[in-house]
Amino acid sequence: MSVDLAVRVAGLELKNPVVAGSGEATATEAGIRACLDAGAAAVVAKSVNESAAARAQLRAAEYVVLDEHLQPRPLGPAGRTDSLFCRSGLLDVELDEWIDTIARLDRDAATRDAYVVPSLIVADLEEAARHARAFEAAGVRWLELNVGAPHAEEASAGALRTGVDLVARVRAAVSIPLSVKLRAGDSVADTLAAGADAVCLATRAMAFVPDLETRRPLLGTFAAIGGAWALPLSLREVAKAHLAQPEASIVGTNGARDGYDVARFLLAGASAVAMTSAVITNGPAVLARALGELAGYCADHGVAARELVGEAARHVQTYEEVAIERRL
Ligand SMILES: Cc1cc2nc3c(=O)[nH]c(=O)nc-3n(C[C@H](O)[C@H](O)[C@H](O)COP(=O)(O)O)c2cc1C
Repeated sequence: MSVDLAVRVAGLELKNPVVAGSGEATATEAGIRACLDAGAAAVVAKSVNESAAARAQLRAAEYVVLDEHLQPRPLGPAGRTDSLFCRSGLLDVELDEWIDTIARLDRDAATRDAYVVPSLIVADLEEAARHARAFEAAGVRWLELNVGAPHAEEASAGALRTGVDLVARVRAAVSIPLSVKLRAGDSVADTLAAGADAVCLATRAMAFVPDLETRRPLLGTFAAIGGAWALPLSLREVAKAHLAQPEASIVGTNGARDGYDVARFLLAGASAVAMTSAVITNGPAVLARALGELAGYCADHGVAARELVGEAARHVQTYEEVAIERRL
């Protein structure tokens, strides 16, 4: 089966639209290599910054899989009706070493037509700009900046900053392609105006789950939640952004669990799709399986992956138009 899966993101040619998203599965060299081996066109490394509090937060990280009745079980294989409910923090690494590691991994990735993408979350903005420059100087070819981290509101003050106003400073620091990860509702137009080459839509929501047995909060805190149920919400976010800015390069995130979800994100207007929770719970093999499913879907429909981008969004109607068309 020969199917053209190539897409264009942030001005870069990707061999396919499947990206391993930033998270615990991309926190180590071995984890990143496993995602590359599974065929991901890009692997976004776990985010870093210089804040000690953000690192301490990773040491206090906790994760549970929730079934459809919100019954928790330990982290492990998850199905389509499960959610991942967790607290996470940022990598506790020596940043100069991490920059060297990512640059080396990205050089290796280039030999297999793939990318390894570092991710920054701002604590101090000047430090973020400095780290961005250091990644570029080390030879990295694509940088991601997450300005929509859901945990920011619960983290220690200043550990994780959010907001589109952070983009311009980091943009000014580097000339490599910059993708910016946003919260639902953040302004895509302002992000592009600040110089982002792509937007990644959109980060997870924060949640609260009382435990019926203990009558206490599950995990003890508010925490971020995601699942396949989030996909339609993310798809709307992507479709609205695509319709408002048809030329914008969009990476979909939050809810993709298989290759058909990747196709749905493309149809909504994304050019690539980050899968994170599925890789954490079920392993990097989900990336290879998603690629096979997407290739099968494209073959069945006789289309190249890039032809799917935005197709469904372009056919969306207003309530009024649909009433007229159906003579209601
Ligand atoms: C345990 C965990 C850790 C994460 N850590 C990061 C991170 O460090 N940086 C980041 O930009 N996104 C992070 N994310 C967000 C994911 O990359 C992704 O945007 C989100 O989980 C929604 O996509 P999914 O449904 O494929 O998981 C994390 C997600 C999870 C579940």
